[in-house]
Amino acid sequence: MKKIAIFISGRGSNMQAIAQEVKSGILQNLCQIVLVFSNNCAAGGLQIARQNGLPVGCIESSGKKRTEFDREVIAFLQPYQPDYIILAGYMRILSPVFIKTYEGKIINIHPADTRLHQGLHAYQWAFENQLETTTITIHYVNEGVDTGQIIAQQNVDLKGAATLEEMEQRGLQAEYNLYSRTLAMLFAESDAQQ
Ligand code: GRF
Repeated sequence: MKKIAIFISGRGSNMQAIAQEVKSGILQNLCQIVLVFSNNCAAGGLQIARQNGLPVGCIESSGKKRTEFDREVIAFLQPYQPDYIILAGYMRILSPVFIKTYEGKIINIHPADTRLHQGLHAYQWAFENQLETTTITIHYVNEGVDTGQIIAQQNVDLKGAATLEEMEQRGLQAEYNLYSRTLAMLFAESDAQQ
């Protein structure tokens, strides 16, 4: 049974979808959420996490240097001993000290093919370029922005999506599905190896 800490900065809908699968879906008995963490204490997702009875924590990142902030986060995480850090809309670039501490254990979801688009506003990019499909990507996190090894991808049909909101809604449904399925696969594999 893996211990996971989910990192969010805002809405937290991916976190909520994972929490649902942990409670009574494909992640049940594969992992437990030991912490929902945010760098933004006003993140809407923290409230959702609390309502779901999940342990929450936050440290405000604004005005702090990346390494200084990440050292605080590492110390904060210590008592929770997470096996994996699951980024779900976490809007901070992680510093090398954080990446080293959790080497190979940090996973992110990106709403595009990371080989084609990195960074923010991936749905807007798809919308503006009138893409007929986009590719949701789950990847390991390294020191670059959306450059880590790809774990899983899934295409989403965007044809006929008239607005950016509609496109994002379609994409998000695929995100929820792919993230939990991929984590379930990873955790099951790693349990089998032990
Ligand atoms: C998602 O589109 C995710 O792929 C991206 O940021 C968004 C976060 O949404 N990294 P939410 O906070 O999970 O609702």
